[in-house]
Amino acid sequence: MLVVTGGAGFIGSHVAEIALSRGERVIAVDDLSSGDPRNVPRGAQLVVADVTRPEQLGRVIELVRGEEVAIAHLAAVASVVEASRSPARALEVNVVGTANVLELARRLDAYLALASSAAVYGEPSELPLKESSPIRPISLYGVSKLAAEQVTFSLAAEHGIRASALRLFNVYGPRMKPGPYASVVYNFLTAALRCEAPVIYGDGSATRDFVFVADVAEAFLRAVERSSTWARAGRPASRSSLTWSPGSPASGSSPGGPLPGQGT
Ligand SMILES: NC(=O)c1ccc[n+]([C@@H]2O[C@H](COP(=O)([O-])OP(=O)(O)OC[C@H]3O[C@@H](n4cnc5c(N)ncnc54)[C@H](O)[C@@H]3O)[C@@H](O)[C@H]2O)c1
Repeated sequence: MLVVTGGAGFIGSHVAEIALSRGERVIAVDDLSSGDPRNVPRGAQLVVADVTRPEQLGRVIELVRGEEVAIAHLAAVASVVEASRSPARALEVNVVGTANVLELARRLDAYLALASSAAVYGEPSELPLKESSPIRPISLYGVSKLAAEQVTFSLAAEHGIRASALRLFNVYGPRMKPGPYASVVYNFLTAALRCEAPVIYGDGSATRDFVFVADVAEAFLRAVERSSTWARAGRPASRSSLTWSPGSPASGSSPGGPLPGQGT
C-alpha cells in the first residue's frame, strides 16, 4: 500500500495515479489547503488530514490493516512566494509536518520518500548541480526543505526508518497550477494557445531545469520500491534546460524582474 501525502496536489496526484495503475492500494492524505479533491484519482482513498496534526494523521493507521506500507511525502507549503508570506506556517508544515509523517512511518514500519527541492542549493555554484554541490538556500522555502531533509535523515537514523529524499527541479505537466512565479511552462503554453507572446523576465538568458511530472512520479515509485536503499538523497532532473535569447520574438518585458520558473 502507498500513502501519498499531498495526494490531492499536482505531483502527489500523479504518484497516486501511477501506483494505482500498478495495482497498489493508495491512500491520499491531504488537508486540501492548496490541493483539489478532484485531483485524487479514482480508486484512491482520500483522507482529509493536516500533517501538522498527529491525531489526524493517526487515522491512516486504522486504514492500513496490517499491509506493508510505503509513504511518498509530498504535502507541503510548496511555493516560494507562499512560504515567504507565511514563514511560520511554512516551517510548521514543511518541517514539523515532516517529523509527524516520519513518526507515522515509524509506527507503520514504512519506507518514506520525501519531496525535497532544488531550492536547497540556492544560487548554483556549478552546473549541472550534483548531490555534493554546495547547499546554500536563499529562500525560506529552501530552508524549510533543507530542514525537512535533515529531520528525515536524523529521525530515520534514530528510529531505524528507511528513507530517501528527492530534490525536485521545476516540475511541469497536467494539473500544474498557473501562477506568475514557477509555472513558466504553463504560462508559455497558455500564451501560445491564446496566440499571445509569452512574457520573459530579465534578458532571456536564464536557464532552468524542467522535469516532466510522470518522470517525477516514476522516481518516487522507484524510490519506495527499492526500499532496501538506506537514507540517500537523489536528484531527479531532466538535465535539459531552456534558454530564451534576448531579442527573440518572445522576449521582452519586465527587465530585472523575477526569473521565470525559479525552482520550487
Ligand atoms: N512543483 C514543483 O516544481 C516542485 C519542485 C520541487 C519540489 N516540489 C515539492 O513537491 C511536493 C508537491 O508539490 P506540488 O507542486 O504538487 O504542490 P501542490 O501544492 O500541488 O501539492 C501540495 C499538496 O500538499 C497539501 N498540503 C499542504 N499543506 C498540508 C498539510 N498541512 N497537511 C496535509 N496536506 C497539505 C496541499 O493541499 C496540496 O494538495 C512539495 O513537497 C513541493 O515542495 C515541487
